[in-house]
Formats: sequence, C-alpha cells, structure tokens
Amino acid sequence: MNKKLGLTALGATLAIGLTACGGEGAGSNTDTENAAPEDLTIGVSMPTETSERWIADGANVEAQLEEAGYDVNLLYAGDDIPTQMQQIDQMITEGADALIVAAIDGTALSSQLDAAADQGIPVISYDRLIRDTENVDFYVSFDNYKVGVAQGTALLTGLGILNEDGSEGTATGPFNVELFAGSLDDNNAHFFWDGAMDTLQPYIDNGTLVVKSGQTGIEQAATLRWSQETAQKRMEDLLTSSYSDGSVLNGVLSPFDGISRGIITALQNAGYGTPEKPMPVITGQDAEIASVKLIADGVQDSTIFKDTRLLAEQAVAAAEAYLEGEEPEANDTETYDNGVKVVPSYLLPVETVYQDNIQSVLIDSGYYTAEEVAAGQTD
Ligand code: GAL
Repeated sequence: MNKKLGLTALGATLAIGLTACGGEGAGSNTDTENAAPEDLTIGVSMPTETSERWIADGANVEAQLEEAGYDVNLLYAGDDIPTQMQQIDQMITEGADALIVAAIDGTALSSQLDAAADQGIPVISYDRLIRDTENVDFYVSFDNYKVGVAQGTALLTGLGILNEDGSEGTATGPFNVELFAGSLDDNNAHFFWDGAMDTLQPYIDNGTLVVKSGQTGIEQAATLRWSQETAQKRMEDLLTSSYSDGSVLNGVLSPFDGISRGIITALQNAGYGTPEKPMPVITGQDAEIASVKLIADGVQDSTIFKDTRLLAEQAVAAAEAYLEGEEPEANDTETYDNGVKVVPSYLLPVETVYQDNIQSVLIDSGYYTAEEVAAGQTD
C-alpha cells in the first residue's frame, strides 16, 4: 500500500470557493480595464535565485503572464531587503499596472505598497504573506499550517511511530530529534512550526521524542533567510553540544529542502549515513530537485511538494481579474490576518513525497523528468 498520509488536500471547504470582498480599490481602475494585455506591465518581485524553487516560481509566473499577453518585469532581490524595496519602487516608477510579490521580509514593504495603492496598483502577495499593511489585495499560497502538519507527520512516519495509514505504529522510541524552523520574518515559518509542533508535541510530552538539545522554541530553532549554511552551522553546533557523548540522532524536523541539505552536510561530516550510523529521518519542503535526488538515494526521507505551476496560475488569475476590473476568487477569507486586515486568499493543497511516490507525484505529473531526478538537477 502506498505510504503516504501525505496528501493533505484541503477538501471541500476550499473547493467551495468563496468570493473575495474588499480589495481596497484595486480592480476599479478603468485605465487598465479598457487596455489590451499587451499595453499592461506586471511587476514580479521574487526573493532569491539561490533557491531552485523561486527560480521555478519566477519562470512559471513570467511564462504564464506572457502567454496571456502581458509584459512582465521579473526581478530577483538576492535575499536583500533594501534591494527588494528598491526594485518594487522602480517597478512602480516604471508604470507597473499590477504587482506580484514574494517578500523577503514580510513586514518591510509598507512604504512601497503605500505608493502602489496611491496609484491604484493591485498587489498580490505570492506564497509569503505581506504583513502590517492595508495595501495588499490578495494572497496566493498553500495551506501553510497543513504543510507543518505534513512535516511533523512525515517525521513520525519515518521513525515508525505512525504507520503509513496514519494509525499508531509499533516503534516506541525514545528517539532523539532536533527541530529546525524557517526565517522568523517570513509569516509562513510560524504556520509551518505551529502545524509541526501541534503534531509532535504529544510525542515529546510522553517521552517518545526527546529533543536532546532542549531547543524547543521557535526562536532557538529559527534559520534566518532559510539559509543552508546557517542550518549546517547550527546542526554542527547541536552535534557538538548534545551528541558528543556518543548518543545518536534519529530524526530532524526541517521546514525547507535547502535547510535539509545543510543539515545533511553537517551529519555526513560527522559520520552519519553509514550502516552503523544511519542518516536520521529528515523532512523538507518544496521538492527541490537536488533534494528529490537525495530522497531517491535514501539520504533525505521526505519533502512537501508545492506545485509552483498551480501557484503561478493562481497569481496570474488574480492579476488578470484585477486588471479586468473584477475581484479574484478566494477560497479562504479567514486565516491570513496580516496584522491590519484579513487578506482574501487562494490556498492550494500540498502532498508529501517519499522515495516510493516520487514517480507518481513528481514524474508522472510532468513536474520533473526521471532523468532530472537521477541527475539531481533540471535541464
Ligand atoms: C517559504 C515558502 C517555502 C520555502 C521557504 C524558503 O516562504 O513557503 O515553500 O520556499 O520560504 O524559500
């Protein structure tokens, strides 16, 4: 039977498709309503090219917007907050008609978005919620709490505490685990952590899981900028501080494939990954190609697949709706409070990938070819 409780489809509630209300004036711009797509430019601001997922996101959004006839101004900000601010300013100055933004720091863009609002430019927050401003019109993402639940569940399944069908497994532990979180200035990091910890906490409380370092708070577990190097360093420090006595690490909660790769490097350097000292069960997110190969090779245990093609589709649909004077369709109007207002959202489902469903989830769907998985890189 196929392992994976991983399919966290959002179910009927999301299928209903509520209609967004609000929009703060976006969508009422008669200039764009009557314009041909060819005469409209959409600014797309992406955080970084160091992660393969954002390269795929940028490429998908750009291709789909161009397909619909729009001009696209796609810029990457090198994970530098002032660069992203400056690039968005520039997009506005150069006459962007709509903005699609994946923020580096979700709280840092208020003055740019004030300027956008002044000019009636609709703003779509892409995967990461832009916080502390009224001037974000729509949010496209995945169910980020469920991503965390899926990560916690994958850790428990990998350790044998849960069975593949979700029932209690035979493994009783105790298992030594360590916990990693994402960048705290990214709203998503908190949703992932909450979902994972709600899943893992009962097993920590009853002693099945032991966090030997004692680092169980999100601030201690955080990884600024989701950096692979920072994660590697923290894993090295944890091994030194808590495992030098010869005890063995059995599992690591990791919220993102780049972080997982840093953790894996630290563990390999410390002699993990041999028959005597197997690699701990390590989770991930994004199904980045390098990590999918690590899963195929039995090094990383799982990742959470977020289909960036579908996310791009939702971002493009939202931009188009605004430019045509309409409101995009939301399927969640409750969850994503950005500190000023609840931002109407379209959330997509996610799926857990393990070694045995790489073929069905990632290859059969055309996301990667078998050759790309074998090579660990895209063509
Ligand atoms: C988050 C995103 C994750 C992962 C991470 C690091 O905002 O939701 O999927 O990509 O950033 O890039």
